[in-house]
Amino acid sequence: MRLLEKMKADKQEKLLQKKLIEAFDVSGIYMEYTSEKYKKRIYPKIHSIKFNENRIEYVFTLLNGQDPKEIKKKEYAFYQVFGRTLKIETDSIKKYTLTVSNRTIPKKFIYDYKKFLPAIEGMKLPIFGGVNLDGEYIVWDMADGKPHLLAAGENGSGKSAGVRQILATLIQFKKSSELHLYLCDPKFTEFHLFGDVEHVQGKIACEMDDIYNNIKAVKKELDDRKRLIGEQEKLTGIEKYNDRYHDKKIPYVLLVIDEFAQLKDKKDSINLIETISAQGRAFGIFLLLATQRAEAQVMNGLIKQNITIRMGFRHADLINSRITNTIGSEKISMEDKGRFILKLDEAMEVQAPLLEEEIAEKLLEPYKRKEEEVKREAITWSFPNCNEIIESNEEKKEQSKPVIKKLTIDDLFGGDK
Ligand SMILES: Nc1ncnc2c1ncn2[C@@H]1O[C@H](COP(=O)(O)OP(=O)(O)O)[C@@H](O)[C@H]1O
Ligand SMILES: [Mg+2]
Repeated sequence: MRLLEKMKADKQEKLLQKKLIEAFDVSGIYMEYTSEKYKKRIYPKIHSIKFNENRIEYVFTLLNGQDPKEIKKKEYAFYQVFGRTLKIETDSIKKYTLTVSNRTIPKKFIYDYKKFLPAIEGMKLPIFGGVNLDGEYIVWDMADGKPHLLAAGENGSGKSAGVRQILATLIQFKKSSELHLYLCDPKFTEFHLFGDVEHVQGKIACEMDDIYNNIKAVKKELDDRKRLIGEQEKLTGIEKYNDRYHDKKIPYVLLVIDEFAQLKDKKDSINLIETISAQGRAFGIFLLLATQRAEAQVMNGLIKQNITIRMGFRHADLINSRITNTIGSEKISMEDKGRFILKLDEAMEVQAPLLEEEIAEKLLEPYKRKEEEVKREAITWSFPNCNEIIESNEEKKEQSKPVIKKLTIDDLFGGDK
């Protein structure tokens, strides 16, 4: 605001024009005319500059011969010059509208499922992202063309809290017969509050072996579905199958891995995830991965290629936000927790709702298995509840200890019986 008032005083339009030229300069979006005497830069033609205290809108066209791809490629330069609250849109290959917004997103945005509900109603597998600059709720449907999701950003930027609120929404929105969650938490800190939630399959996996088992269970589910839906039913996807079999619908599956980088040397796990990322979507099996950095050592090319929806929380620098493909996330300040650049179709800035752990815990209470149910399932389930079976067997062993008592010489060869 202050910046704009100053601009107004200083012949706003001229200044604003200069600013856009600066962006063209920085990004190299100009053509150079050289004669013997001088060199001249020719910039895209600026058609109009409209502004009020909230926004500036530029309309410009590229010069003949300028590559429209350059604008996309050099988007970061516009962010560098104007700050991260901007949008570049085009309705043809030459004409562009650049909107720089002066508004700010509220720093805190409190989680409120009831308020969010109308925005996700009717969706199959809704992800509630948060609120954008225009105060609109940003939501998308994993099961409708926006399958796998990657949340990346520095330590403490809000990834795990972001995942927490996404899961809390899904749990309230979908019945446990409609959505199966497999949760992996190699940091041991994030997902314990989802323990015993009906949607969660098996236990919250923290140890690498358990994580591998979880991933294997999801891969097995994928193979079973390929056989059932593809081979047996000759259908092309879970939706068609569920349409045909109303009474035995197949649930969606979401495999969530926090701190994904910790798996980087686990070749077996990575290979399975690769397959899931490539084949899962048609069969209703999706990934939600969170990691501090998304570079190749952590995330191989194929996985990255298949996870196209990105939440870029605060990144250390431009190099990193380029890797995640959320340019602008390097400009998010340390204080802006839960703020991210969302790469959905186009990039936009979003504030995730804050759902504190204690509140989430209360909210999830009605969705937890009752104790008797947990025991019954432990006896009847095969994998993924094998750990509970082991535990319950161990309980039995404990109880039967006095009966199995060790045999003594007297027992074997007769004592005073
Ligand atoms: N959407 C949010 N709004 C406000 N504060 C948040 C939000 N998300 C996270 N935080 C704060 O930031 C802290 C770190 O978040 P966390 O999700 O643990 O980061 P990360 O997983 O990226 O390391 C949290 O403890 C919380 O206090
Ligand atoms: Mg975390």
